[in-house]
Formats: sequence, structure tokens, C-alpha cells
Amino acid sequence: MAEQIQINQPQLMSELQTLATFTGAEPVTDGTAVTRIVFSFDDLRARAWLKELAATEGFQVRVDAVGNIFIRWAGTEPQLPAVATGSHTDAIPHAGMYDGTVGVLGGLEAMRALKRSGLRPRRSIELIMFTSEEPTRFGIGCLGSRLISGILDPIRADALQDKDEATLATVRTAAGFAGSLSSAQLPPNHYHAWIELHIEQGPLLEREGIPLGIVTSIAAPAGYRFTITGLGGHAGALLMPDRKDALCAAAELILAIEKHALATGAIDTVATVGTCDVHPGAVNSVPSRVVLQLDIRDTDPDRRESVMQAVRRDCEELRHRRKVEITEELVNADAPAQSSPHIVELLEEVCAAQHIPYKKMVSRAYHDSLFMARIAPIAMIFIPCRNGVSHRPDEYATPADTTLGVRVLASVLAKLASE
Ligand code: GLV
Ligand code: MN
Ligand code: MN
Repeated sequence: MAEQIQINQPQLMSELQTLATFTGAEPVTDGTAVTRIVFSFDDLRARAWLKELAATEGFQVRVDAVGNIFIRWAGTEPQLPAVATGSHTDAIPHAGMYDGTVGVLGGLEAMRALKRSGLRPRRSIELIMFTSEEPTRFGIGCLGSRLISGILDPIRADALQDKDEATLATVRTAAGFAGSLSSAQLPPNHYHAWIELHIEQGPLLEREGIPLGIVTSIAAPAGYRFTITGLGGHAGALLMPDRKDALCAAAELILAIEKHALATGAIDTVATVGTCDVHPGAVNSVPSRVVLQLDIRDTDPDRRESVMQAVRRDCEELRHRRKVEITEELVNADAPAQSSPHIVELLEEVCAAQHIPYKKMVSRAYHDSLFMARIAPIAMIFIPCRNGVSHRPDEYATPADTTLGVRVLASVLAKLASE
């Protein structure tokens, strides 16, 4: 079978380049800057283009209420649960051109390569392009896969707001995605298996000279929003002893978060404060309110919670000492996911048969696979990315590594579809 699977590398690379042109980012000199926020002009253009590619192949296309796109190649027994693959095409501000896109266009090319090889799959093979894997617009990642797996309440989802206070309900309807979000949920037996191809977004494969990673588990992410309220006033006239500067308190809180994440001593504990909104945001005004967003992850959710407990104790101390209000709001606290031993074994078989060195590894980034794991057996394939860089314009994966990943994906899809 493997000999007959020929990946069309020039076409795949050219499609990745085309997708990267649907961007809201200014061009840069050190790579390809991609900004593709969910339901923006560029996101909608990318979706239309992807649907055209699918139609050219004669694949069936379905779009659900939140905009997840399903591209299906019907099997000879289409009533059986399908085998699915895919990822996302949205991109955070000023990101690169490989995150997510390799799994979507690579998944499409894997299906096309299997078709060219003459395979007639028993189970249908389906490609999914998920809506808003990135949390940029609505503050929570994996919107599409959370709704598919029933992890996110549809009413809560529709009430999510972007920075202009537009709700998901309004924005998705305006973008042409109507209907109740509850209709996006799929039952646990809907898919026979799920497998996602993605760049590693870390340095290990490249550092160890290994072309392929087989993901055995995905670390557990959580998100919190802290609002610190102090006392604003004139930057010249409000005397220092009288101040309740919200940004100074926020600065201490950020450093406390870093200290407690480091204190676990575990390389798998990571915590990031990536946004900090300062009110009123004027150079000559003492900050009265600050909103911070914390992203904290660990392979061990109990250890993640112990960091949060330590952070809360420091908040208590800060409240008293700096006389500020601090409120904490939980955005999401997800469990880790384990790959299916069966799919991992199939991947190992494929690598052994094709003499491909591989490494079993943990995914520290989250992916839609984290939520697909709630309704299907899953696994992921990682390919190396230069210097481990991701979420930056200089993100890069070689054509050879990308093609190899797609070939392994295609081989495993063929095996799963024949089960
Ligand atoms: C996904 O983009 C993540 O932040 O892990
Ligand atoms: Mn990403
Ligand atoms: Mn991604």
C-alpha cells in the first residue's frame, strides 16, 4: 500500500502558500505573518477556498452551526462510523503559516493521495476544519471541537463576547452560520477514530534529529481571567502613599504566577499571562482596573490546581497589602487526553514498515484532538518545526518533513478505514 501512496508535495506546498495569503497581517521580512481570526474576512475567504478544493475532488461538504467544515469521502460502507482527520486554519495575531494548516491541507492531500492510489475505503474518511481552535476572539480555544464533543454548553457558547462585546451568536449568524449550536454535538459512536497531523511547536524532534512524533497524551490547559480593581486618578496629583494602583498589583500577581509555576520543579508546568488590559490606559492616569488572562497547563491537573491554590493565597495577601479588589473567573479547566493505544500501535507499525524513526511524546500545546478524545479514540502525528518556533511568522516546517507526515497520516487512515 505504502508504495502506491504518492504525496503531491508541490501541490501541498503551493496550497499552504495560498492559504497563507488569506491574512490580515502586514508582511514581514523574517517569515510569513498570518493573522486569521475566526469569522474575519480572511477566515471566511479561507473557508470558501477550502470548500472549493474539496468540491474539485468530488468530496461531500457539510458545515455545522458553528462553522465547522466536514469534507467527506464516502466509503463503500458509508453507514459505518467514519475515520476522521483535520485541524484548524484560524491563526492568532501575527502567527505563522503551518500551525493547524498542515493538518487541514495535509489531511486533504492524504485523502487525495489515497484516492489516486486506487483505494476504495470501507469506512468513509472525513476531514474536519474546526472553527476557532485559537482563543483570540472569544477568549476560549477549540470552540468547534468543544461543541462537537459536548464539552461546552451551547447557550454559554453563544453568549461569549469578543472585545467589541459582539456575541458569538451575532457574529456567527452574520457570517452565515445559523441554527442552534446544540446541533453541532456528535455522539460518542459517530467516529471510528480521529487522527490529527500538526507541527510539534516545540524543539524536541528537530533537536534529536527525528522526523516524526507520535503523541501519546495531551497536556491539560486551563484559562482564568483576573480583574484587579484599585483607585485611579491624576498621575501628578495623586500622592504615592494614597495610591491603590491596579497595574502595580497586577505586576506582583504576574510574578507570583511565574514563581509558583517554577516552584513545582516540573518541566510540564507552564503558566503565561498573555494579555493585560489597563484601564483607562492613559500615560498620565493611575491605572484603576486591570484585566489579565492566564493560560496555565500541566500534564498533571492536580499539580496545575496546586499552583492555582498558591496563586490564590498570594492574591489574598495582595488584596490586603495593596488595598485592591481581585476577582478570579474560570474560563476553562480541561482534563488531559490520552491517545488510543490501538492507533498508536498502528502508527508504530506504519513507521516500522516505512523505516521511519519516531519518538513517542506528550503534546504540550492543546489541539482539537483534546476534545475529539471525549467522543472517539484519538492519536496525533507531529512533524518537526524549525527551532521549535510556533505562533510566530518565522514558524517553518520543511517540505520533506511535511510530506512524510502526510504519508504516515494517509497510511494510517487507510488502515483505520479498512477496520
Ligand atoms: C494552541 O494554539 C495552543 O495554544 O496550544
Ligand atoms: Mn496555535
Ligand atoms: Mn494548532
